[in-house]
Amino acid sequence: MNPSKITICGGGNGAQTLAPIAALNLGCDVDLYAPLGDEAERLRAGMAAGDGLEITGAVRARARLHQVSANAAEVIPGSQVVLLVLPAFAHEATLWQIAPFLERGASVCAIPARGGFDYCAAHVLREAGREDVAIAGLQTLPWACRVEEYGRRVHVLGVKQSVTAASRPAAESARVVPFLEQMMGLPVLPASSLLSLTLANTGQIIHPGIMYGLFAQWDGTFLEQAPLFYQGLDAAGAQVLEGLSRDIQAIRIRLGERLDLSAVEPLLDWLRRAYGDAIRDPATLHGAFVSNAAYAGLQAPVREVAPGRFVPDFSSRYLAEDVPFGLVPTRAIAGLAGVDTPVVDRVIAWAGGRLGRDYLGRDIMLARIPQKYGLATLNQLVAFAAK
Ligand code: NAI
Repeated sequence: MNPSKITICGGGNGAQTLAPIAALNLGCDVDLYAPLGDEAERLRAGMAAGDGLEITGAVRARARLHQVSANAAEVIPGSQVVLLVLPAFAHEATLWQIAPFLERGASVCAIPARGGFDYCAAHVLREAGREDVAIAGLQTLPWACRVEEYGRRVHVLGVKQSVTAASRPAAESARVVPFLEQMMGLPVLPASSLLSLTLANTGQIIHPGIMYGLFAQWDGTFLEQAPLFYQGLDAAGAQVLEGLSRDIQAIRIRLGERLDLSAVEPLLDWLRRAYGDAIRDPATLHGAFVSNAAYAGLQAPVREVAPGRFVPDFSSRYLAEDVPFGLVPTRAIAGLAGVDTPVVDRVIAWAGGRLGRDYLGRDIMLARIPQKYGLATLNQLVAFAAK
């Protein structure tokens, strides 16, 4: 795969990080599709003022992009690869917008895929008459990154040592994986299916799990400051993370009788692999979080309701994305496989309460679960994953 142009969909931290890195590593034109609000305009203004987009911190790069537009018809045609670097709740709408303009045989890759991307993408592409388009996904975004000045500068706090990718059809990985490696400049490990990525999505464990650890007992008292998110993890919080990881391993073991799910690692194994030397104390899960340099200083999401008075921000993507596009799909898969997930259930019940949703009952179809896209039995799920 040697494209002359790629398009990145998104105008947030991840999209603004990937764009210059991809432009330098691939040496091809990079277009940006940013339809939300006035983002395309602000991105163009920032890049013009700063002579391109600059990346600082753990990765350093500066590059100019080819074109930025809020109109899919201007930036999607001509791209053999289209990358969705978006929160998962924006995937479906974006897929509908770009589907008519995708090149024949193009690949659409979500970075990160989060849970159930393949069910949603296959559905949209089928309904749009675009079954010629391949689907791919990465398990996570390789960079911890924050925009410092919109359209001008992004700071990268840490880089993962490797990331896992999968595609549908699976054979497409032979083309997609080397391309992703070249584009991002880091090792990409192939997984057998996007189902592996749904289960191997560590964001679904880490984000809701730590939120639960930090705030499940919160009694409404104002906080004087935002607690540290990762470094604020205590022993009880680490136990919740262990429990979530254990539940997901139980699903892996059951489904592993029928599919290759070797990419679905226990959380501590993944942390050690992804962060390597950035972790000073890799002996325990607790140590792997509090001594991880890539996590240093990152704060929990809070809202300032009065000067110096904060409350947890339960609407943050740590719950709003990682529960309906993470834990709930995983639990739905467990249900089809006949596996109990007590800790996953406990965290979903709590998070759902905070989000005003009953994801264990009434509101389950609002989550990106396989059943929503017609996969109602274990056999259907396995057949879809094996395709
Ligand atoms: P972000 O919060 O910066 O992205 C927001 C952007 O997404 C918006 O600026 C807009 O361009 C786009 N967007 C949101 N809603 C939209 C809609 N309805 N239609 C069209 N576009 C829409 O997110 P970020 O940080 O770039 O993250 C992207 C993904 O990577 C998320 O899944 C996140 O959980 C994940 N991730 C991010 C990390 C980071 O350090 N930034 C680290 C690990 C994972």
